Amino acid sequence: MAAGARPAGAVDEASAAQAVRRMFDSIAPRYDLLNHLLSANVDRLWWRRTARRFRDVLARPDSAILDVCCGTGDLTLALLKLRPRGARPILAVDFAHSMLQRAAGKFAARSAASGRDAHKAAAPTAIPIEADALHLPLRNAALDLVVTSFGFRNLANYGAGLAEFHRVLKPGGQLGILEFSEPEGFFGVAYGLYFHRLLPAIGRAICGKDGPYNYLPSSVGDFPPPAEMLPLLRTAGFVECAWQPYTFGIAGLYTAVRPS
Ligand SMILES: C[S@@+](CC[C@H](N)C(=O)[O-])C[C@H]1O[C@@H](n2cnc3c(N)ncnc32)[C@H](O)[C@@H]1O
Repeated sequence: MAAGARPAGAVDEASAAQAVRRMFDSIAPRYDLLNHLLSANVDRLWWRRTARRFRDVLARPDSAILDVCCGTGDLTLALLKLRPRGARPILAVDFAHSMLQRAAGKFAARSAASGRDAHKAAAPTAIPIEADALHLPLRNAALDLVVTSFGFRNLANYGAGLAEFHRVLKPGGQLGILEFSEPEGFFGVAYGLYFHRLLPAIGRAICGKDGPYNYLPSSVGDFPPPAEMLPLLRTAGFVECAWQPYTFGIAGLYTAVRPS
């Protein structure tokens, strides 16, 4: 089983993390466009569906929430839509500066657009934090919810990532990991052709580089399937571990709880 992401040329965890950070910094200007195009906008549905899964914790104004590997912030925005006015800000962590800068711009634009009514409590917002998901600048047992979308697969060490999420969650806190997966059957074959052949070619044409959109299908191929991820979550100390496939299993949401 893959212990963590290994982009081409990476020889250890440090060089893998550096290669991932550089790659996302380099594609940041085209990331949103390519994401929406290559997923035919289904990514937006997945973020909304993930947010709805945690609507109870999002609805509590004092919940402490982290979107880790937030990238350009679209999952954070979907989470914010389910936060009440006056709620604590969501923490949004990423280690790629250019990705996080875009997220910060979106959070600021949202606050500017929704903060005009002076009679109401402040619109919920998010705080961008440049940090490594494997070394979060947060105290133990600080959070009610940790979520991540399409970032976990890129961590240089999956076990260390889960241990860090477990550390920062309160007992009873919830974890959500939205990730790609490889569907099975006839649909899986057709999708595999698109994902492994067509997608890298489109990505290359738009972003003008080879690496990132070759890395995407290979990193999904190397990522542990649900039958391996669920035991990994249990080994890290989580309970109530489950996987919910989205869109015929192209993606899926892992959910788990730090025991009380
Ligand atoms: C595919 S993007 C996903 C972004 C966003 N969550 C989304 O759904 O569009 C993966 C993000 O994970 C970030 N990332 C990968 N490894 C990380 C780490 N160790 N610490 C912090 N961020 C990391 C990358 O910088 C990148 O922005």
